[in-house]
Amino acid sequence: MKFNAIAISALAGVAAASPVDTRQNGGGDGPFGPGTYKTEGSLQQHTIYMPSKTTGSTKMPVLVWGNGGCSADGRSNVQLLQQIASYGYLAISSGGPGQQGSTTAKMMTDSIDWAVANAGKGDYANVDATKIMAAGFSCGGVEAMAQIWDSRVATIGVISSGLLDNQTAATHFNKPVLFVLGGESDIAYANGERDYKNLPANTPSWKGNINVGHGGTLNDQNGGKFGKAILNWAQYVLHADDKGKAYLTDGYKADGWAVETHAFDQLKPQA
Ligand SMILES: *[C@@H]1O[C@H](CO)[C@@H](O)[C@H](O)[C@H]1NC(C)=O
Repeated sequence: MKFNAIAISALAGVAAASPVDTRQNGGGDGPFGPGTYKTEGSLQQHTIYMPSKTTGSTKMPVLVWGNGGCSADGRSNVQLLQQIASYGYLAISSGGPGQQGSTTAKMMTDSIDWAVANAGKGDYANVDATKIMAAGFSCGGVEAMAQIWDSRVATIGVISSGLLDNQTAATHFNKPVLFVLGGESDIAYANGERDYKNLPANTPSWKGNINVGHGGTLNDQNGGKFGKAILNWAQYVLHADDKGKAYLTDGYKADGWAVETHAFDQLKPQA
């Protein structure tokens, strides 16, 4: 697992850059922000990101997330996940806050099980578990791809990643797929490009590259440009949001993305 070692070392500085006051103040520029995080006894070894304001009558989709290096520190991508939460999402990272060690794809499936079991109840009254995106960064992206066969998952996001073992599995992917890659210097670039090319012709997909390398911009404020692409994809696919669509069809140009799409006009967003 090449991305494993590389991404772990790339992310080694992240814990230090995610101080406790990131949680105290929260983050994200969305209407329901700041996004903050917490843990739940009923979902050990995970970190749950939520908006701090009620979303009112707006239902909250769910993002299940795998960290770079398959790191079990659920704060690894705190900038991105607080940002997503601030837009009215429940985002569940595999791994507890500050946890050591590694995650597995099964832990992401556990996030899905938990979201389905808790949606509509208590603190999660607004959560809509019919809107689930599985995504992850580097090794975490491989965990996310493994969820595509799960009928509860609507879309997957492959961030600086691509299949490692079963390299032709993408020929059978039949749900909308987002690829966010860091250009030719991204160690996962070739795998991500290969998987995009392997998609069936009628599988909607959007692939963007910016030349920032494997680490992308996820540690920038609100996840930077990578965060923007992920948020706009989720907003369009899970909420049929016009602004999300506008970014994916045109707005991305101002951010310097090199974009290719497959069957994008066949994408049927969820209302
Ligand atoms: C790839 O293979 C692994 C190991 O067999 C499996 O767990 C995973 O679900 C597969 N991924 C995809 C996308 O099919």
